Amino acid sequence: MSDVIASNHAADPCTLVIFGASGDLTARKLIPAMYEMTRMGLLPDRTRILGVARRPKTDDAWRDELEPWVRQHDPDFDESTWRELAARTHYLPADATTSEGMAAVGKRVSELDAAAGNGGNVLFFLSVASSLYEPIVEKIDEAGLVIEGKRWCSIDPDAASWQRIIIEKPFGNDDTSAKSLNRTLGRAFEEESIYRIDHYLAKEIVQSLLVFRFANILWEPVWNQQYIDHVQITAAETVGVGQRTAFYDQTGAIRDMIQSHLFQILAFVAMEPPTDYTPEHIRSEKVKVIDALVPTPLDRVADYCALGQYASDGGEDPGFAASEGVAPGSTTETFAALELQFQNWRWAGTPFYLRSGKRMAEKRTEVVVQFKPPAANLFRKLPDFVGGDRLVPDRLVFTVAPTERLSLRFETKRPGLGIHIDPLEMMADVGATFDAPSLEAYGPLMIDAMRGDQTLFKSRTEVESAWDAVMPFLDASSAAARKGIRDNYQPGSWGPDSARELLARKGRCWREDDASGG
Ligand code: BG6
Repeated sequence: MSDVIASNHAADPCTLVIFGASGDLTARKLIPAMYEMTRMGLLPDRTRILGVARRPKTDDAWRDELEPWVRQHDPDFDESTWRELAARTHYLPADATTSEGMAAVGKRVSELDAAAGNGGNVLFFLSVASSLYEPIVEKIDEAGLVIEGKRWCSIDPDAASWQRIIIEKPFGNDDTSAKSLNRTLGRAFEEESIYRIDHYLAKEIVQSLLVFRFANILWEPVWNQQYIDHVQITAAETVGVGQRTAFYDQTGAIRDMIQSHLFQILAFVAMEPPTDYTPEHIRSEKVKVIDALVPTPLDRVADYCALGQYASDGGEDPGFAASEGVAPGSTTETFAALELQFQNWRWAGTPFYLRSGKRMAEKRTEVVVQFKPPAANLFRKLPDFVGGDRLVPDRLVFTVAPTERLSLRFETKRPGLGIHIDPLEMMADVGATFDAPSLEAYGPLMIDAMRGDQTLFKSRTEVESAWDAVMPFLDASSAAARKGIRDNYQPGSWGPDSARELLARKGRCWREDDASGG
């Protein structure tokens, strides 16, 4: 079994160039991820890592800085794996937004490449502030570091070398900036070489959505508006915005979580079956389904969303609005719940509710698929039947975090005399059943980029369509929904009252308010 995994994931050796080597993401995630991949034997020996940042530093000084992060990441820290990786990890002080800086990067990459015999393969990783994405990409292009052709027909999988780029979110700040970034990237790289990363696509249960839907026969026939009443996709966090107040004040929950992460889940839940499991087919189905979202009417945005800002907890946290770094009178949302509708044959009339918030009651990421009740209730006249004539509708829950599991609620007969009907929940604990090591999300995705597999990365059109869908909730048309946003929910709650009302208006409720159980 492990052979199959290893051969599936054999990456091409390359030089991995990390712009933003001094940043938090590099130390906390990227290097620990590369350590894990080394430990699992998935990173080819010839791979070299070159960290680039402005601060002067030697290779050894950078290695010494990184080591505690790797130790902290792995309770069973393996000294020899780290030594092996550290020996292949280098540092270059350079300002990558200048021509001289990028020329120095090119020179160092050539040296490392020649010494390791990597044949010119380079994977760039932009782990810098998003304002630097375009300047750096322009310099990569200007310095001639992309040798592989820029026309689709020149991308030859057997060609001598490749150059690819991984870009972190935020991928633009709105529809216009995302399009501009895409154009800049497109001038330097072929679309096949651009890897827009989203760490939610590395989550087990998110990937497992496709297997659940398309490797079983049971679900597909009922996976549509005829049988499904609505879908809830939630990513709730107990933490606040922490030190990132200024960044977050410019961002908010819709940009930070919904347009990016939750749209990935939405696409996997709602898309049509792809022809096969290839990047082209999967990515084109994702684009199709996001394109099928009904544009939210600009004069009725407030009817389709609930936005909030968490208040003070009465202790050390002053609440979002009063935090240092947040602009006075800010209406940036730390909580958002959106109602989205599709205009396609599968989903017309079945709303999808997407919700995310900081300082919520629980850390919980989940997809709730709420089925409709059966067409008729043959038990309704039994003397013991409770609940009017309604049976409790079936419900599937995919828990992405904090545990990984699937559960199905369905009606059953309570054992004993007569017919007493009660809902029962059947649970499959995926995490515990397979006992697989939990991996830092970036590792497998970076290995995919080294293999040239874009399946779990976002395409240009997908990102642009996702921005188009959320823009009404972000621009001036959302002003009415932002009125009275300040302190409108308590830390440790499930968000503002308006979130409950959003569903209640159509006789629905969020999972935690569902009195039917489960
Ligand atoms: C990041 C957001 O992309 O995802 C953070 O910027 C958020 O604000 C994080 O906390 C949540 O990720 P996860 O994997 O913990 O759900």
